[in-house]
Amino acid sequence: MKIAMVGSGYVGLVSGACLADFGHDVVCIDKDESKIARLLDGVMPIFEPGLAELVGTNVRAGRLTFSTDLASAIDGAQAIFIAVGTPSRRGDGHADLSYVYAVAQELGEHIKTPVVVVTKSTVPVGTGDEVERIIRDSGTDVKFAVVSNPEFLREGAAIGDFKRPDRIVIGTEEEWAQGVMKEVYRPLFLNKAPILFTSRRSSELIKYAANAFLATKITFINEMADLCEKVGADVQDVSRGIGLDGRIGSKFLHAGPGYGGSCFPKDTLALLKTAEDYNSPVRLVEAVVKVNDSRKRAMGRKVIEALGGEARGKRVALLGLTFKPNTDDMRDAPSIAVVQTLLDAGAEVVAYDPEGMEAAAPMMPAVRMVESAYAAIEGADAIVLVTEWDAFRALDFGRVKGLAKGPVIVDLRNVYDPAEMRDAGFSYTSVGRP
Ligand code: UGA
Repeated sequence: MKIAMVGSGYVGLVSGACLADFGHDVVCIDKDESKIARLLDGVMPIFEPGLAELVGTNVRAGRLTFSTDLASAIDGAQAIFIAVGTPSRRGDGHADLSYVYAVAQELGEHIKTPVVVVTKSTVPVGTGDEVERIIRDSGTDVKFAVVSNPEFLREGAAIGDFKRPDRIVIGTEEEWAQGVMKEVYRPLFLNKAPILFTSRRSSELIKYAANAFLATKITFINEMADLCEKVGADVQDVSRGIGLDGRIGSKFLHAGPGYGGSCFPKDTLALLKTAEDYNSPVRLVEAVVKVNDSRKRAMGRKVIEALGGEARGKRVALLGLTFKPNTDDMRDAPSIAVVQTLLDAGAEVVAYDPEGMEAAAPMMPAVRMVESAYAAIEGADAIVLVTEWDAFRALDFGRVKGLAKGPVIVDLRNVYDPAEMRDAGFSYTSVGRP
């Protein structure tokens, strides 16, 4: 089956490469000529484990190609995915749909054979109706259907998530379009991955509801962590104690510096906007957004407290800058607010991140980026673990002790063992643990 993927960013590229790996004939399209030129040279625009290899294998097998010319590239495709960005619109936080609608317009002008247009971009409820209207109004008389098919990929684990999904959601009530989508996901269908057919609007809402629920879970455990600190309890025990209840589930109950990334912050805000537009407030999600926003700066204050309440003139080493490990993504990373709080308090900040420093440097020009964790630690009054990269889990603490100036460690991801840290002579603070 020929599939066209419009938008070769994170979602488009991962989905395109995985669908090619399923045996489909896939073309990934992007307006950004330099991005396509680099992809043709085998250079990935993002860091995602396994992606370069997957793209390389499928390009060599002739199943995956790249193009900047939408009109010719979509020729003969039975399914065309829209996987362009839907960033938060400046000013009101609503999802900016201009890229999605521009693609719809172009598709309307160029489709020649019956086709299923699949919205993979995260789009508010009702966007599918608008995409359908735009294509129809372009005057085409070709048969088409507009289907919602949200993605549930996690950065850093995206290929695994695509190939072994918890579920696939397909929003369309048109039978022939359901048939085409079954064919798209045939290998997963054969593997018995749960495939859920819903209305288009339900499918669109499922995506936002899922992200808002996960953001709520994280925020819930983060507030429990704060309470644990006050009452002398251990949030990891609390998390395990509630997570073993099958109705609650143990995932996404790791307390930390607050959620970040390109999805939860943007999607929770967009859901609030939709709820507002339909006069059906989602107050719980409103609270989640507020609590999470204020948490990031609070983590900076936690570091200052660990320094004895005074950060001026002190040097702080940050380990990890990206919003989570195995990505180079800095969008809404908690490190940004932590850094700002420390700089505002007069601290000097030195940082190391295995993949994120290039993206981080322009966001935090006052921070000195160094080439290793140990280089960051040298001469530091406090060491702050912000992102739980594997490389930081097994630091040589004898060496750390020798290099650091102060014995203060603030572990915002609860990676280290409090007793071991104390025995090693560190003044150790973590999140929600005594
Ligand atoms: C998230 C969802 O997990 C995906 O299912 C979804 O497809 C994606 O958004 C999207 O909408 O595109 P992602 O943003 O890549 O994926 O990252 P997550 O692994 O979900 O982590 C998000 C944030 O929550 C990170 O800052 C992470 O550190 C934080 N988090 C996660 C916690 O603080 N505690 C947890 O227990 C889990």
